[in-house]
Amino acid sequence: MGSAGKAAKPPRWYWWIFSAKLVCSSCAIECPVWNMYELFTPHKKFDVKKATRRPGENVVITGGARGIGKEIVKKLLMLDLHVIMGVRNETAAKTMVDEFRKARITTGTVDILPLDLKSFESVREFATQVLQKYTKIHILINNAGLYDQPYEKTEDGYEITFQVNYLSHFLLTNMLLPKLTYAGTSEKASRIVNVSSIAHYPGKIDVDDIWMEKVFGQNWAYGNSKLMQGISSKDFNDRLVKEGYPVRSFSVHPGCIASGLYETYPKIVQGYFWLMFKNCEKGADGVLYVALSPDVEKDGGKYFQNCSTFFQNSQVDNIDVQKALWEASCKATGWKDSMNAKPKVSPNRKNTPAIVITKDSGAESISSAKSKATKDDLERESETENETSPNEVTVSPKPTPTSKEETDTIPSVDSN
Ligand SMILES: NC(=O)c1ccc[n+]([C@@H]2O[C@H](COP(=O)([O-])OP(=O)(O)OC[C@H]3O[C@@H](n4cnc5c(N)ncnc54)[C@H](OP(=O)(O)O)[C@@H]3O)[C@@H](O)[C@H]2O)c1
Repeated sequence: MGSAGKAAKPPRWYWWIFSAKLVCSSCAIECPVWNMYELFTPHKKFDVKKATRRPGENVVITGGARGIGKEIVKKLLMLDLHVIMGVRNETAAKTMVDEFRKARITTGTVDILPLDLKSFESVREFATQVLQKYTKIHILINNAGLYDQPYEKTEDGYEITFQVNYLSHFLLTNMLLPKLTYAGTSEKASRIVNVSSIAHYPGKIDVDDIWMEKVFGQNWAYGNSKLMQGISSKDFNDRLVKEGYPVRSFSVHPGCIASGLYETYPKIVQGYFWLMFKNCEKGADGVLYVALSPDVEKDGGKYFQNCSTFFQNSQVDNIDVQKALWEASCKATGWKDSMNAKPKVSPNRKNTPAIVITKDSGAESISSAKSKATKDDLERESETENETSPNEVTVSPKPTPTSKEETDTIPSVDSN
């Protein structure tokens, strides 16, 4: 990674070009035209009452104790799912679940685990816990995000917006892939849902300066981080299809939503947003649609707005940008490019074979799911799957690493 110093301020021309792009594209968050468009376009609701209940299925969500995520968790519980929340503030998450219970949402179960996306170590700890506790993950919702952050580097040496919005989710998705693979079938693939944004439209990634070390703008960085989620969703999906994994990847704009995301803005601007933007409940609709609707089964790799597919920034389909981003992301997170070379799960199988978690170092690889469905796996599945009893909330403590080797280990699917 480059120098730890502050990135250079963008030159004046950048603001002119960027502002012009915002207006011309009519697609940026600040653009009133786009807001008006959203305001006058009928909102498509995800009707939880008509949706199929999904007891026994596991959903991992990042964030979720407030904002759009809170509404997503609420609906997932109403559909009787088991929700694994990765949050910074476990008390807030627990209070939120108590609120739901008081509001007579008695279905579904929750497991609250610590996760700070500013730190790759925290992501690894979270993922390791999830991998150890659960045999299957049916849906992963990469929801958490931040906006309008001044230039700051994390302990890992990356600009904060890129790390929280994109890089940590890249690492998490790769780490959880074995369990997503195990949960998916050829009829019903598991889903990775990246909560992106219309702010991805004016984004432009410079492959020679992916993390904006040379020229930085905070709104631009947000747009680029959301564009990266779109590129990654498409690239990931192509790889999954090519390799025959029963997992599909999507990106979705939740709508322009009045939430805590804009807390850095002056109160008067926030007031405008409260008037013009949709509420968090509506923001959850589009994400839930992509996560749960059977209609999107064949739409892997696509971008959604208001429960419909939409065109994307042209860089999403640019193979050179995809390749550069994948390589830079692997380098940043220490992930080994494993998906390309590994064996497949037969798309024709109804259920994918069992997963064996190995502890040997460097075990990032997703290898053959043709592996044996051992007795141990089946036993572990029955022991660990949904350990939480109905209506119970589990707040799991931060795991205490016993050795560096253990914390650095990334559990995987073993081929043998
Ligand atoms: N609101 C909009 O208009 C809009 C438009 C397009 C896209 N989006 C996207 O929608 C997603 C949800 O945003 P929102 O509107 O619900 O915003 P929000 O109300 O500000 O919620 C952000 C969520 O992200 C979590 N988070 C932030 N930094 C984190 C970190 N370092 N580690 C773990 N979690 C972290 C927050 O957790 P804490 O409670 O711990 O802070 C919170 O749960 C974001 O990805 C955002 O980019 C929003």
